[in-house]
Amino acid sequence: MKNRKYLILNGPNLGHIGERQPEIYGSQGLDSLPGLLKEILGEKAEGIELLFHQSNFEGNLIDRLEKAKREGLDGVAFNAGALTHTSLAIADCLAWIGVPCVEVHLSNIFARTDEPLRQKSLMGKSCIGCVAGFGILGYALAVLALEQRHAQG
Ligand code: DQA
Repeated sequence: MKNRKYLILNGPNLGHIGERQPEIYGSQGLDSLPGLLKEILGEKAEGIELLFHQSNFEGNLIDRLEKAKREGLDGVAFNAGALTHTSLAIADCLAWIGVPCVEVHLSNIFARTDEPLRQKSLMGKSCIGCVAGFGILGYALAVLALEQRHAQG
């Protein structure tokens, strides 16, 4: 199987994963992701190339998604942060680009009942699935799901 390229895309306030409110978002940084993937996927992890991008700006995230389409990337693990709940523009982008996307959240947004807005995702309907509540492991699980999908053709 040819090498697969996946984009780990993070939106606003996700440039300091591991440092920001660790009681909610966990204390592990994105640097632990390759190790986690190796644990989960074993040798198969060697065929995977991860690209990382983070921006605090909605338009920049859309530009990166459009670039992912042009590059023919195999999938995106996307934590859009607060834009998950508010951005029709990101939802519109995911609806047409045709790059398989898994929505990722470090926290379990569905359990954050004190903030009902966080339980809603505008982008979810254009994603193949959602992983929430497992911290950094969520990105690795998203890549695993994209790999399975890829293997099935
Ligand atoms: C988040 C959840 C969002 O509600 C929040 O705005 C974030 C992070 C998460 O990873 O749990 O910035 O997407």
